[in-house]
Amino acid sequence: MTGTDPTPDTPTLFDRALLADPHAGYARLREACPVARTTTPDGAPVWVVTRYEDVRAALTDRRLSLNKQTSTSTGKHGASMPPSLDAHLLNMDPPDHTRLRRLVAPAFTARSVGRLRPAIQQRTDELLDRFQDGSADVMTALATPLALAVICDVLGIAEEDRRDFRTWTDTLRSPAADAAPTSRRALHDLHGFLVELIAGKRDHPGDDLLTQMITAREDGDQLSEPELVALSFLLLFAGYDNSANLVGNTVLALLTHHETLRSLRSGALGVGRVVDEVMRWNSPSMLASRRFAREDTHIGGVRITAGERIWMSLASANRDPQQFSNPDQFDVDRPEGGHLGFGHGIHYCLGSALARMETEIATEALVRRFPSLRLAHPEETFEWCDSFQNRGPLKLPVIW
Ligand code: HEM
Repeated sequence: MTGTDPTPDTPTLFDRALLADPHAGYARLREACPVARTTTPDGAPVWVVTRYEDVRAALTDRRLSLNKQTSTSTGKHGASMPPSLDAHLLNMDPPDHTRLRRLVAPAFTARSVGRLRPAIQQRTDELLDRFQDGSADVMTALATPLALAVICDVLGIAEEDRRDFRTWTDTLRSPAADAAPTSRRALHDLHGFLVELIAGKRDHPGDDLLTQMITAREDGDQLSEPELVALSFLLLFAGYDNSANLVGNTVLALLTHHETLRSLRSGALGVGRVVDEVMRWNSPSMLASRRFAREDTHIGGVRITAGERIWMSLASANRDPQQFSNPDQFDVDRPEGGHLGFGHGIHYCLGSALARMETEIATEALVRRFPSLRLAHPEETFEWCDSFQNRGPLKLPVIW
């Protein structure tokens, strides 16, 4: 039966059981309730869309807005940021979004981010130099510090300021961050730091992407200081965990698919293909940002009322058997493309080229330097991020 309300035995998106194995739950939702009405943990009603065709169409549907002013739903709409930091791409619709995206996009082309390649390679090598004694946790020893270093490189943060930057971001990323006074202080300090950073770069331009965004001009238009601060926050929050988790998910996929790992090592398979299939099979970003219906509309034949909140499950769309044959199988040779791991349409991930490059460098270096690399506890099940949004192993212990 297909309906709009999950039946009692149909897991909602927010069952904790779904975190251990989200894909079995999504499969049931796609089948029984592809546009389901449910309630978020903070009590707000939300529609959850799980089929590929519906998710893809919804991502380009102009009747759905990212601007929370269009919302009638109660509850929180994500991390509680001060309004000034909310004014970023993922809260905007055209024409505001178009203007901002046009100004920042040149800094994130494959060519622009390619300039960071030598620095990322060097950071990776330095981190791997510390892999000693035959065992390590890939998340804490490689994926997380590399992702932070890359964001710092993007923003051109000096070496001596990186420790403070890390402390603030760690505080803000912790699950209890929303209410705690320490996180309010961290937010305040980070905000002040970014204002100073941007002012400093105006006076002394660097060779970083932030400087490129500060100096970007189009038709006499340029980014204002509040826009640059909000954007820097977005880069941090959109890029950091996702990038770390993509490295983790890629290494995990390789260490559990030995044939693929052998092909990669032998040079028969390019690492880009591996990363792309990981983005489909186990993408770090399980949900797109929430949308709100601007007007009464239909998704997958289900009526949505103006102002209601909608979440699209990218993870579910990427395992939809209507789009991908044997979707649960990790298969680098699959002919079908078109995964939605980086989104689709005008909000398509700005950092996708950067995230891919970083993951490719880290993965190749790791598997080449440690030819006998394997999981430390192959029989144990993994603990995953405690989040309905992010997907990545909390720890990834390996031995060699
Ligand atoms: C947007 C995923 C890395 C910056 C998005 C969206 C997804 C996504 C799914 C679209 C959201 C939506 O339509 O609601 C990912 C994943 C990453 C990653 C899985 C890593 C594996 C990065 C990095 C950066 C970044 C490294 C920058 C340093 C952005 C920005 C947007 C975005 C600025 C908003 C674009 C817009 O609204 O026009 N990302 N992202 N992302 N991402 Fe990423």
